[in-house]
Amino acid sequence: MKEWYDAIKEAQSVERLEEIRISVFGKKGVLAEQFAKMKSAPNEEKAQIAKELNTHKSGLTDELMQRRITLQTLELEAAMKAEFIDVTLFSSNSQAGALHPVMETMDRIIEYFTAMNFAVKTGTMVEDDFNNFEALNLPKYHPARDMQDTFYFKDEMLLRTHTSPVQIRTMMNTKPPIRMIAPGAVFRRDYDITHTPMFHQVEGLLVDEEGKVSFANLKYILEDFLKYMFGDVEVRFRPSFFPFTEPSAEVDISCVFCKGKGCRVCSKTGWLEVLGCGIVDPNVFDAVKYKNVSGYAFGLGVERFAMLIHQIGDLRSLFEGDIKLLEQFQ
Ligand code: DAH
Repeated sequence: MKEWYDAIKEAQSVERLEEIRISVFGKKGVLAEQFAKMKSAPNEEKAQIAKELNTHKSGLTDELMQRRITLQTLELEAAMKAEFIDVTLFSSNSQAGALHPVMETMDRIIEYFTAMNFAVKTGTMVEDDFNNFEALNLPKYHPARDMQDTFYFKDEMLLRTHTSPVQIRTMMNTKPPIRMIAPGAVFRRDYDITHTPMFHQVEGLLVDEEGKVSFANLKYILEDFLKYMFGDVEVRFRPSFFPFTEPSAEVDISCVFCKGKGCRVCSKTGWLEVLGCGIVDPNVFDAVKYKNVSGYAFGLGVERFAMLIHQIGDLRSLFEGDIKLLEQFQ
C-alpha cells in the first residue's frame, strides 16, 4: 500500500488525485481487491488483515483529503494570479465630465479680477424695478428700457436684464471704496444666433474718492484683461451710450478670426465688440446716496467671450446639451 501513499503525496493536480482515488477506492480498486482476497485467507488471519486494510482505508482517505485541500489552494492561487483584474486601472472608454465652456470662460474672467483684488458679488436673478432700471438712471418710460425687455412678475418684480443691479445692491449696503465684479445669469426677450433668453454677464465696478478714478484707469485694466483672455489682440474704445455711465464706451478687440484683416465674423471691419464700460454717472451715485466719489464700471457677455475663444458660430448651440459639441472643449 505504501506506493499509494507516495502517489498521493506526489500528485500534482486534483484530476490526478481523482484517478488515484478511483484506483484505490473504486469498485475494482485496490482496497476492494484486497478485501476480496481476504475472503480466501485462513480464518485466523482474517481479523488481522481486515484491521490492517481498515487502517489503510482511513489513512488513505485522510491523505487524499489533505492533498486535495493543498492542491485546490494552489490551483486557486494560480488561477487568481492568471486572471488578475486591476480594478484601479483607468478605463479608456469611461466618460469624464468637464466644465461647460461658458462656466470655464466665467472662471477665467473671475480668476483675472480676483487676482486684481476685486470681490465677487452675486445679487439675485429676480430683481426689482429700482435696482434693475431706476437706480441705474433708467427712469420709467425711458426709451433705453426697450432694448432690455424681460419677463415681469407682479409688484414691479422682473428677471434681471443685466448684472448692473448688483452694483446698486452692493453700494446700498457697503461704504466706498468698492472693487467688485458680479458674475451671473441674466434674462431678456431675445432669440437669434447671437442671443438666448438666458445668458451670463460679468459686471465690474470700482468706486473710490472723488478725482481718484479716471478713464485711464479703466482703459488700462480692460486692455490688460482682454489681452489675458484673448492673447495678443489690439484693443480700441469707441464712444457710446449707457444710461449709467458718462462718458460711456464700447470696447472692441481686433478680430480673433482674421487677425484684423476683415472677415465674415467681423463684418469685414476687422474688429469685434466685446464689452461696454464708462465712468459711473453721478445720477447713479445720487440714487445710492454716495457723495464725493468717482468710479468706473463695465459689463460683458460671457457667452460672447466663450464663442470667440472657442470659435463657436451659433450661441444657441451652447445650451442644447449636445455632447458631441461640448466634448470638443474638454
Ligand atoms: N449692463 C449693460 C448691458 O447689459 C452692460 C454694461 C455696459 C455694464 C456699461 C456696465 C457698463 O457696467 O458700464 O448691456
